Amino acid sequence: MKFTTKTLILGLILVGGLAYAGAATDPDAKARQDLMDANGGAMKVLGGMAKGDVAFDAAAAAAAKATLVANAGNIPVVFKNQSTDPASKAKPEIWTAWDDFAAKAGDFGKASAALDTTSLDTLKAGLGAVGGACGACHTAYKAS
Ligand code: HEC
Repeated sequence: MKFTTKTLILGLILVGGLAYAGAATDPDAKARQDLMDANGGAMKVLGGMAKGDVAFDAAAAAAAKATLVANAGNIPVVFKNQSTDPASKAKPEIWTAWDDFAAKAGDFGKASAALDTTSLDTLKAGLGAVGGACGACHTAYKAS
C-alpha cells in the first residue's frame, strides 16, 4: 500500500514535470503553442465526431472549422519572430525556408476551408486532408 502511494506520487510528479517542460514562457513561442493547442482542440472535436465517439453536431463542427481557418491565416503572424525557448519544438528551418513553411500553412488553410461540416459524411470525407496538412508541416518543421 505504501509502495503504491509512493509510486503514484512519483508518477504525478513526473507527469507534472513533463507538462511543465512542454510549455514555453517566451511570449512569441507561447503564442505559437497556444494557436497549435487550439488546432488540437478543434481537431479533437471534429475527430471525435468522425469516429463516432461523440454525436455529430453541425454547429460545433462549423465552430471548430472556423477556428482552423482562422488559425491557418494566423500561422505566418505568430511564427514571424524566431524567438527561441527551450520548450519550443519549432525547428530553425522554419525561418530559413519561410516561403515553404508559409505555403504549408496555406495548404492547411485551403483544406480547412474546403471542409464541409454540414453532415457527418461530408465531415468524414474532408477531415483526412486537414489532418494530412497538419502532419505535413509537423514532419518538416516540428521537432518530435
Ligand atoms: C505550417 C505548419 C504547421 C501546421 C499546418 C500545423 N502545425 Fe502544429 N505545430 C507546428 C510547429 C512548428 C509546432 C511547434 C511549435 C513550438 O513548440 O514552438 C507545432 C505544435 C503543435 C502542437 C503542440 C503545441 C504545444 O503546446 O506544444 C499541437 C497540439 C499541434 N501543433 C497541433 C496541430 C494540428 C492539430 C494541426 C492541424 C489542424 C496543426 N498543428 C497544423 C507547425 C504546424
